[in-house]
Amino acid sequence: MSQLIIKGGNKLQGDVIVNGAKNAAVAIIPASLLVDGVCEIENIPYIDDVIRVSEAIDTLGVSTEFIEKNTLKVDAREVLTYEATEECASKIRASYYLLGALLGRFKKVKVALPGGCNFGVRPIDQHIKGFEALGATVVVEHGIIHAWADKLIGTQIYLDVVSVGATINIMLAAVLAEGTTIIENAAKEPHVVDVANFLNMMGAVVKGAGTDTIRILGVEKLHGGKYSIIPDQIEAGTYMMAAAITGGDVTVRNLIPEHMESVSAKLIEMGVVIDEGDDYIRVRAPETLKPTNVKTLPHPGFPTDLQPQMAVLLSVAEGTSMIVEGVWDNRFQYIGELKRTGAQINVDGRVAVIEGVSKLTSAKLTATDLRAGAAMVIAGLVATGGETIINNAQYIDRGYEGIQENLVALGADVRRSVDEDKDRKLCDNVIEINCKQA
Ligand code: EPU
Repeated sequence: MSQLIIKGGNKLQGDVIVNGAKNAAVAIIPASLLVDGVCEIENIPYIDDVIRVSEAIDTLGVSTEFIEKNTLKVDAREVLTYEATEECASKIRASYYLLGALLGRFKKVKVALPGGCNFGVRPIDQHIKGFEALGATVVVEHGIIHAWADKLIGTQIYLDVVSVGATINIMLAAVLAEGTTIIENAAKEPHVVDVANFLNMMGAVVKGAGTDTIRILGVEKLHGGKYSIIPDQIEAGTYMMAAAITGGDVTVRNLIPEHMESVSAKLIEMGVVIDEGDDYIRVRAPETLKPTNVKTLPHPGFPTDLQPQMAVLLSVAEGTSMIVEGVWDNRFQYIGELKRTGAQINVDGRVAVIEGVSKLTSAKLTATDLRAGAAMVIAGLVATGGETIINNAQYIDRGYEGIQENLVALGADVRRSVDEDKDRKLCDNVIEINCKQA
């Protein structure tokens, strides 16, 4: 098991550089299966989820190689099988992108049901609705999704819920389909736009990504090329919040300020001073944080993936705050752990009411998922009275490259204790359990 051990109380100061976006990378790597050529994907975060997705496409006979730490070369000129039923495919949520990519390329696919972070039911009915609308037959049996079609034909698809995964998956299936596909009520997240830009760079015709309506004009073939992934909005937001809670002064570099607008707006409401440049945001913390209310929503709303981190900030604000979780059914599971630091939070369904306290105290915590783990790190950075120990830190590594090193460079006291063998087994077991629950 991997642990992060944090002695809180240090003000974070200096610069931190944001890595490439995890949720763009885990979609773009499968998207490269559509390319009859060689793709060099730059600014890939070197994190567990990315490594697992590239392992999953390796099992299809595709050649993948990290030619530099953050550059992955994918040669998908030859793909030996359309079946991704190996164990590794089920270990990450994003393996569902193999469905759209392989269906798009071969018009047939078999993929083991995805695992991933556990915060309630994570259906894929909208993905399936999209594939069926394009003309595929989809059967789910014994944990395997099987889809096939003689040909895929462009059509109009209205998503009943705004889903990042369904929007991207339908885009993947549609780029090589015949005719025009229109996705209505599409997700507008920055990584949806990034996947569209990647596909367009390789010869696809995808228009309107970043709006409610995406139009995909099917082409016969995609060609290889180079692409650089956008910065990670959630990693950037996590560092912004870490700076704000510790009384710090941190410049978060290599981000896209427009992606951070909902986060900056909330921090400003809390009294934080935000200065934006072309590709950086400087965060200067106030003496005390003011309370505020937050509702998570699809982009451009406040991101659900920053909700746990925000809950920690609000826990030390001067007054009462409220968070409404507007995306996931069950994303307050971490609150019980967080309360061990003295945070005062009451949850009722999708609403958390937070009474600010004057300080958090150090505790032994267990990360329940990736973003909950990041929230616990933020709590540890301000907790007083000793060391905060965060168990299951391997969850945090799924999404944050070099988090410990980055925080130490900003002046935090963070060390790590690792038992790699146990770590791998624990992670695998938890993901298997989540998969059974999905
Ligand atoms: N939903 C359905 N049916 C579907 C798909 C989704 O009802 O077919 C519902 C979900 O239950 C949820 C909502 O729609 O209530 C949004 O789900 P979405 O499909 O947008 O989520 P996702 O694609 O599975 C991605 C990110 C998550 C992030 C969500 C929301 C990846 C690999 N994961 O998940 O990121 O929370 O979008 O922004 O892109 C994380 O990075 O920690 C993480 C969990």
